[in-house]
Amino acid sequence: SKKLKIGLFGFGVVGQGLYDIIRTKNLNIEIVKIAIKDPAKTRSLPAELFTTDRDELLNNPEINTIVELINDTEAAYHIVSTALKTGKNVVSSSKKMVALYLQELIDLQHEHGTSLLYEGAVCGSIPIIRNLEEYYDNELLHSISGIFNGSSNYILSKGYNDNIDYDSALKLAQDLGFAETDPTMDVGGFDAKFKLVIAATHAYGVIVKPEDVLNVGIQNLAARDLQYAREKKLKIKLVPVAKKLDEENVTMFVLPKFVHENEFLYNVDYEYNCVTVQAAFADQQFFYGKGAGGHPTGSAVLSDIAALRYDYQYEYKKAHNKRDLQFTNNIELNI
Ligand code: HSE
Repeated sequence: SKKLKIGLFGFGVVGQGLYDIIRTKNLNIEIVKIAIKDPAKTRSLPAELFTTDRDELLNNPEINTIVELINDTEAAYHIVSTALKTGKNVVSSSKKMVALYLQELIDLQHEHGTSLLYEGAVCGSIPIIRNLEEYYDNELLHSISGIFNGSSNYILSKGYNDNIDYDSALKLAQDLGFAETDPTMDVGGFDAKFKLVIAATHAYGVIVKPEDVLNVGIQNLAARDLQYAREKKLKIKLVPVAKKLDEENVTMFVLPKFVHENEFLYNVDYEYNCVTVQAAFADQQFFYGKGAGGHPTGSAVLSDIAALRYDYQYEYKKAHNKRDLQFTNNIELNI
């Protein structure tokens, strides 16, 4: 396998987690340079490893792989698209960027023969994208669902299990480092929707604009809603669903939902994520794990980096050729 020389963008929670993992393992991977936004921040590594100049990484011929782990969606798209155009493979954890620019990113990869992987963008450590892409025969999937946003789940669990009010729970999620810079992304169901849209591409071959998918978040739930759930021995979870309606149509939505104690989702609490896959022959399967955090997400990013050593590419076409599915806004509320 070839030696990967990495230009890393971002040294936040995930960037540091990744660095930490790579350092403790004897891998054929070298981080050549790290691009950061704020040079004034104290760093645990030698200053010469860092730069604030993006182009220093993008134009460096020694760097053959870009790992993009930043917060700014437009900047992330610029970095990723430039890298793909100039022959560098990319690993990204920017779910919003990938979801918004999926079609463009697919075209760029096809045009330039480069590869973009983003396992870390969807449910952190849970290995779902390559499984949807590779393991599952696409036409057999009835639905994909689960809990894709750790912050919302944390707030709901804190309220339900520990009687912590919404604002305090959100503050805790922010302090723990898994809430987005703009928490509306989390509590409004947008973050879960971005992840859902990406997963649906690999499950069904549909490329859907996030703005076309309904999302209702948890921000308007009241204490009495949780109380009602408690009385009925139910829980409330924020649930993204991608579901095949018939031979032609796939629907998607993100909604808060009552969950019964005999459902897998019931026991997924706090910041944990899960993905349930309903398949015709494999039947129901359940993936559970950490959806955020430096080491868990860093582990998914590393798994993509490792896949690039063997020039792994998503074969989006494979999903397309299987079946001509369309996205429809028809929502079956009988979920
Ligand atoms: N804000 C996200 C969450 C982080 O709460 O799940 C991981 O994508």
